[in-house]
Amino acid sequence: MAVSRSRKKTVSKKTAAAKPRAAVKSAAARKTTTAKPQKKNANPLGLEKKLPGQFDTLQEIALEAWRKMPAPVWDHLMGGSDSEMTLRRNRAGLDALALRQRVLVDVRNIDMGTTLLGQKLDIPVFPAPVGGFLGKVHHEGGPAVARAAVSRGTTAFIATAAKPSLEAAQEAVDRRLVFQLYVRGDRSWIEGVLDRVRAAKYGALCVTVDRNYYGRRERDIISGLPVKEGFGDQSYQASLNWKDLVWMKERVGLPLIAKGIATAEDAELAVEHGADVVYVSNHGGRQLDHAQGSIEVLEEVVRAVAGRAEVLADGGVQRGTDVVKMLCLGARAVGVGKLLGLALSANGEAGVARMLELMEVEIRHALGLMGVTSIRQLGPEWLREVPVLGTPGPVSAYPLLEAAVRKRRG
Ligand SMILES: Cc1cc2nc3c(=O)[nH]c(=O)nc-3n(C[C@H](O)[C@H](O)[C@H](O)COP(=O)(O)O)c2cc1C
Repeated sequence: MAVSRSRKKTVSKKTAAAKPRAAVKSAAARKTTTAKPQKKNANPLGLEKKLPGQFDTLQEIALEAWRKMPAPVWDHLMGGSDSEMTLRRNRAGLDALALRQRVLVDVRNIDMGTTLLGQKLDIPVFPAPVGGFLGKVHHEGGPAVARAAVSRGTTAFIATAAKPSLEAAQEAVDRRLVFQLYVRGDRSWIEGVLDRVRAAKYGALCVTVDRNYYGRRERDIISGLPVKEGFGDQSYQASLNWKDLVWMKERVGLPLIAKGIATAEDAELAVEHGADVVYVSNHGGRQLDHAQGSIEVLEEVVRAVAGRAEVLADGGVQRGTDVVKMLCLGARAVGVGKLLGLALSANGEAGVARMLELMEVEIRHALGLMGVTSIRQLGPEWLREVPVLGTPGPVSAYPLLEAAVRKRRG
């Protein structure tokens, strides 16, 4: 393995406060009251535009979402299954890797463009599917996320549960998006969905394969937040196998993405059964508890795929440097789930577009400071294993938010 991985132990802790956050002043309000006259930003590494009320950092987006969201909704977004070990490992795995840096390289121009199934992405980041959650914080989550992603030159994964409909999200943009399928019914239900996906002119089908049982998310169970697990024949999803994947690809007639792969063995099977893209994911720590962190399994999956399919990854990504680390280990692009939910909650479509813009800024800064001019130069040699500092968790990438959560908890 190019990056050796003996992990230091970290102490567990609860991740989110359980009360409304009126005490933390709205970042948007703060910006509005202190807004200065706008100046054109001459810094090529900076943000494209600076508007009053706009977020300048990802941290402000997260803080604003925390302040706005009722506690059960926050817990639904940020929590994981059972003991939340996988959730924490996603971050711990990222924090256990440091970036190497080279200096005195001309980094005025940095190319962070990539491709997915032949489609150009201006940034190596995309909104992961976050299903029904979008509808909890936004009246038309699917089209809003689609528009924001396309406005920043990337694609979006539109989930089966996205509102108002799978058709509305694809119709909102010119670019062909990815439809993500949760099997929530029997074979005839799947046929109906796949026919709609094809008719709506999606560009690819992503089948989520790590959800044969619905993860036990105890925060939701205890808060009583109504979460729709599915309808129709629930046992069908537990019976899914590799042949079903082949059948789905044939039926829809689109490139296939298998999402939720976490071992070399399954990566091999996915390729054998026609996956064009292998998507490394543990569902953001919401399914199997005590699984490995996503970044910890990325290298073995990339090695098993051996260039026969494209590789995507997600899990714990909150910063541009997280994206860079996943690219170093062989991901072609990286999904954000919780961060997407935070951005949509903070400021709707504009919040998502800004989040992607800030991600781009952070990635460009990281690459510039590493002395890298193209993401094609990245590889495992840019990483070193280091002891994990602090307590990794879903808010630990944002120190001000972490402090606010701790203060509120008392
Ligand atoms: C609120 C929420 C809803 C999700 N819904 C779906 C979904 O409908 N389909 C799916 O494949 N994954 C779903 N996921 C998992 C994400 O697609 C993604 O794998 C995960 O969030 C990535 O980890 P991160 O949240 O740490 O970025 C969901 C995640 C969250 C946080």
